[in-house]
Amino acid sequence: MGSTSTYEVRRVTTRQLLLIAIPTGLALLVLFGIVVAASRRESDLELGRDEAEREAALAAVPGGSSSGSRTRKKTAPGNVEMEKVTPKFDPELEGMTRRQVLNRGIVLAALTGLAAFGGACLAFLWPKLSGGFGSVISAGNINEIKAQIKNDKAPFYNPSGRFYLMTYETELDNAEGEVLYPTVFTQFKETGLIAMYQKCPHLGCRVPWCSTSQWFECPCHGSKYNSAGEWTGGPAPRGMWHFPIKLNGEQVSVDTGTQVEGPPKGTSTPVNAEAKGPHCVGI
Ligand code: FES
Repeated sequence: MGSTSTYEVRRVTTRQLLLIAIPTGLALLVLFGIVVAASRRESDLELGRDEAEREAALAAVPGGSSSGSRTRKKTAPGNVEMEKVTPKFDPELEGMTRRQVLNRGIVLAALTGLAAFGGACLAFLWPKLSGGFGSVISAGNINEIKAQIKNDKAPFYNPSGRFYLMTYETELDNAEGEVLYPTVFTQFKETGLIAMYQKCPHLGCRVPWCSTSQWFECPCHGSKYNSAGEWTGGPAPRGMWHFPIKLNGEQVSVDTGTQVEGPPKGTSTPVNAEAKGPHCVGI
């Protein structure tokens, strides 16, 4: 028997991308604003320093026209010497203000980063919240589903969940079946339904149902699968992926967030698995 595996699937939708991109963009904008504000603040401080130095220089020249304050002192009768004025610029105050700007910027950036992280988490969990592909999807009443399959002679199809449900009858016991369909075979056998992902294991085309052969037949390269999605021909490497089924009372739900890899070539588990008529797609 070939190896099979079960794994979780998460796809990034446009909505998820937006939920990630918007907070990230906001975070970048805030950071940009902080850098610009800090640059302006530094520029203002430079201007203030230049202005103070200019005032001091003017104050040192007799008759200078500075509007700033200057101090006179008498050195001799009739002579007045301008005393050098020290710029009133407090470096301690300058440093503290810059620190404040940077500290507030760091806190703001951290908060924005947290918001972006929260948005990304929400985006990751969104399929579970919205009930679309990637979540557990309610398919309906089991008796109604089986009646529809019997009446249509076709699988029950859920487009938003991207899965097929088909009636399933097998002679395998649970131990044999769980080797081929780990963790899900017992559900399939007990409910009499098997859930298949519509995606072809070859190159990913959607595999439609062929009403004449009563098989799934891929129009892209001709891979074929029996009514349980098990490989019967074509370039696909194995059978179709399956999803776990849960039954709550009579309500069937399908967990499209968990894919179970299809069984290897040569597997044929349903009773009456042979084709019932002409194929829709040539091999
Ligand atoms: S994608 Fe289905 S056979 Fe190639």
